[in-house]
Formats: sequence, structure tokens, C-alpha cells
Amino acid sequence: MSGIQAQKAMMRVLKGETLSPPPLWMMRQAGRYLPEYRETRKQAKNFLDLCYSPDLAVEVTHQPIRRFGFDAAILFSDILVVPHALGRDVTFSEGSGPAMPPIDADGIHALSDVKAHEVLAPVYETVRRLAAELAAETTLIGFCGAPWTVATYMIAGHGTPDQAPARLFAYREPAAFERLLDVIADLSAEYLFRQVQAGADCVQIFDSWASVLDDESFARFCIRPVRRIIDGLRARGCTAPVIAFPKGASALYQGYREATRADALGLDWTMPLGMARDLQKEGAVQGNLDPLLLIAGGDALDHGVDRILQALGSGPLIFNLGHGITPQAPISNVTRMIKRVRGANAG
Ligand code: CP3
Repeated sequence: MSGIQAQKAMMRVLKGETLSPPPLWMMRQAGRYLPEYRETRKQAKNFLDLCYSPDLAVEVTHQPIRRFGFDAAILFSDILVVPHALGRDVTFSEGSGPAMPPIDADGIHALSDVKAHEVLAPVYETVRRLAAELAAETTLIGFCGAPWTVATYMIAGHGTPDQAPARLFAYREPAAFERLLDVIADLSAEYLFRQVQAGADCVQIFDSWASVLDDESFARFCIRPVRRIIDGLRARGCTAPVIAFPKGASALYQGYREATRADALGLDWTMPLGMARDLQKEGAVQGNLDPLLLIAGGDALDHGVDRILQALGSGPLIFNLGHGITPQAPISNVTRMIKRVRGANAG
């Protein structure tokens, strides 16, 4: 580990150290629950413009670090910049979430990544600036979506509760679907590689829809493409740790770290803490507070924090939520959670 990385608590845990208190950050820590985010957001024409404006993206990445002193900053962007870079017409409308024209088998065969890194150039610029500006103890996390999760949005054209359109498409058109996963995986490997070259210390792969597949489909659509990304990174000589987050994978978390070669596992809040402890024997885990506890607050929040620290605090743990913070969470509850995690050692 380089001298600088030795100062970063989260990087030490990713290498297998146990730290007390554990390093801490929150998924979606830059977002609408913060008034300063809502203010900066107004300066962008639309959400994609926010992601592609380094001045604004750097600013919103810093905001939660400035306010709360988290151990890690996550690049401000979105997983759907990858389909956008592949030429899909991605839009984010207020209130209804992301949308794009649904892709079919012909569309998949026509996908091209020739312009991708031109489109993604502002993201690399954002990472470069953040790496230069962040304090030496703050870990900079790059990220991408896992191919399965990105593909679900590309096929349905919008979010759905159960990803039925993508599951149906995968059953009906297995060859086209496999190609789609490979195109996303290959671009994502190069995308993460360039983020690390630009200064990201580690990367996270978000598989937010891993929960809707049977075990065979999970192996084909979640494990294989994530492994392809990680192999792609290692083949490029990139040694940055990879956190993989197959949200809601439940029993299928078993064997996932080994099969994908991920260094650390992101855990959602439905993961039983006993099973989380077993997974922690093989390396670092990250999670897994129910984000709704940040709305509830009070004793329920304290108890939620305590049971995670009790179960996982004596091994390599990165404290986090089990999914992104919601816009409704009061800031006072975020502060309460941080104090509780850092406990008597809080500085
Ligand atoms: O964590 C961070 O602070 C970094 C930024 C980040 C965003 N999206 C910003 C964002 C990250 C890491 C993501 C990942 C992402 N995006 C995922 C995977 C994680 C997860 O939440 O499951 C997914 C599935 C997406 C796709 C996406 N982007 C959806 C479904 C939505 C709409 C839902 C919503 O919260 O509005 C977005 C929009 C989005 N991405 C917002 C933010 C801050 C809100 C948009 C706004 O500010 O208007």
C-alpha cells in the first residue's frame, strides 16, 4: 500500500484490517436530503448535466464530507451514464425517475462504444479534481452499475418493481441478452479503469436488482458479468479494491465473493447478521443499516446501529446503509447515526 493510502481508514479495512470505530460513509450521501445539494442541483439544466459538469459534480461530492466528515467520498454521477455513453437517449425527469427508449435485439446488435469515453470524459475530469482536492485521509470511491442492473433499465426503459421485462427478454432472447451484458461489462471495465487512473482509490459495482433472479440466472446475469468487469480491471494491471453490492441476493451471497473475485461485499439490510459474520471471515463487508431507520430516528436508529457494531465490529467492517439514504431522512438523524458509530472515540 502506498504511503498516502496507509492514512485512509477505509482502504485499510478493504485490505482486511479491523478498525474501531469502523470507517463510515453512506450510499447516496450526496442527494436531495441535503439543502446544499438541492441548491446546487438548480444550477444544472437537468440531472445528466449535473453529472457531466465537473464544477457542479465536484461540489456535490464534497458536500456530505464537509458537513459530516465521512471517511469516503463517492464520485457524484449515476449508473445510467453508461447506457448514455452507448448512445441511448437517457433522461431523468423530476418525480418519475430515469427513462430511455426500450432496447430490442436489433438495438443491442447496433450498440457501439466508439464515442463512450468522449461522453464520459467529464466524469474522469471530476475524479481527477476530487483526487487532488480531498484530504489525505478521505477515500475516493469510483463506481458503475453491474451489467444486470444497467440492462434492466435499458430493456424496460424505466424502473420497474420486479424487472419482469428484462427477465422475460433474457429467457426469450438469450444470445442478444448475453451480448448486452458483455457490451456493458466491457465498457464498465474500461470506465472503472479510467476512474482509477484519474485517482479513485477503490470502486463499487452496484447490482441493485440482484434480488429478482433464480440461482441459475443469478450465476449467468449477475456473477459472470461482474467477474468479467473485475477480470478486465486486473488484466489492465489495476489493483484497486472492488466492492460488489448484489443487493437482496440473500442466500446467493454465499460463494459470490469468490466467484466474482470482489474484494469486499456490500450488504443490504435483509442480510441476517449471523450470515454477514460468516461472509466477513473471507474479507471486508460493508453495510447494512435499513435506510428507513434514518427516517424513524430515536431508539430504533440507535438499536439498529448497535446490533451491526455488535455483530460485525470485531472484523473488517465499513459502516454504511443497506441501500441509499432517502430524501425524507432528517439531517439530525444522520448526525445521530455518525455519533453512535464513532462512539466514545468520536473526535
Ligand atoms: O451515492 C452517491 O452519493 C453518488 C451518486 C449516485 C447517484 N446514483 C446519484 C443520483 C450513485 C452511486 C447512484 C447509483 C444508482 N443510480 C443506482 C444504484 C444504487 C441504487 O440506488 O440502487 C441506480 C439503480 C441508479 C439509477 C437511478 N438514478 C434512479 C432509479 C434514480 C431515480 C430515483 C431517485 O432517487 O430519484 C436516479 C437519480 C439519482 N441518482 C439521484 C441522485 C442524487 C436523484 C436525482 C435528482 O437529484 O433529481
